[in-house]
Amino acid sequence: MGSSFTDPAFDSAESESLAAIQQAFERRLEELLSDTQGSDDPVSQAMRTSLLVSGKRVRPLLLVLAARELGCPAPMLLDLGASVEMIHTASLILDDLPCMDNASMRRGRPTVHRQHGEDVAMLTVVALLSRAFGVVSEAPGLSAEQRTMMIGHLSQAIGAQGLVRGQYEDLHEAHRPRSVTDVMITNRHKTGVLFQVSLRMATLAAGTDQAATDALERFALALGQAYQLCDDLGDCSAVHGKDAYQDRDKATLVNLLGAEEVRRLLNEQLEEADRYLTLVYGPRSALCNFMRSLFPRAW
Ligand code: IPE
Ligand code: IPE
Ligand code: MG
Ligand code: MG
Ligand code: MG
Repeated sequence: MGSSFTDPAFDSAESESLAAIQQAFERRLEELLSDTQGSDDPVSQAMRTSLLVSGKRVRPLLLVLAARELGCPAPMLLDLGASVEMIHTASLILDDLPCMDNASMRRGRPTVHRQHGEDVAMLTVVALLSRAFGVVSEAPGLSAEQRTMMIGHLSQAIGAQGLVRGQYEDLHEAHRPRSVTDVMITNRHKTGVLFQVSLRMATLAAGTDQAATDALERFALALGQAYQLCDDLGDCSAVHGKDAYQDRDKATLVNLLGAEEVRRLLNEQLEEADRYLTLVYGPRSALCNFMRSLFPRAW
């Protein structure tokens, strides 16, 4: 805990490749959880198995790529990405609980509550959220002002007007008539805000001007919408290491409008994301390539 990050692969020219960033990120996550290694405490074990498995790491990679292309030096970026990934993983453990989506598989493994029980799952959520804030408080190379701003933004993203609101609406509003706009607002909260805060962490780390910050937040929100629509379209298959047919009783846009219209909306959101990204980085960027790699070509 508290050691500053100096991974040679991440500091060299090799780090330009996405694979090198991914590897450095996995190593750093492992280091940040080193105090849980070998522990027989179920919460520590659940923190490790939920976090250190095959997540796609989309949010931290967005953060790192965005900040590097804004000229931000490397040292603190993996830690900031790790804090976002801890929050995301905590949200997945909660989302899977019997009182929420009641899922049995996550990231190719049994869900935390199935493996360890609901008490351990809930405590693991608290432990991951608190570790996420601890990581930001200790991340190297940040000014006190940057740190304070980041902690404030992360807290808002999780809170009653962020992930919490999105999750509540997703669970409770499905049986009322809902417009496309209503569902998109829910999707913004349950998914978009974590993309948004990932980009905000990148711009805060890089000290970017207001115009670029605004453009990248709009990029993140459009990408978040597209990402959730893509996830909803994939609900009929279990290929992602999680349960299929979770959305049968949900007011997803796929259930409301049908898959074809959702593919059209998804493309619209991706085009919007692309426009905002181009404003900041021009037409060719590592971030743009990464964004495209997240979506099947057919869409
Ligand atoms: C799952 O997120 C929840 C959604 C917002 C759709 P991811 O698809 O990024 O899940 P992991 O991190 O790869 O497990
Ligand atoms: C995604 O909701 C947003 C979360 C906060 C988990 P989903 O319920 O669609 O996510 P998956 O499909 O279980 O990953
Ligand atoms: Mg859900
Ligand atoms: Mg779910
Ligand atoms: Mg889903």
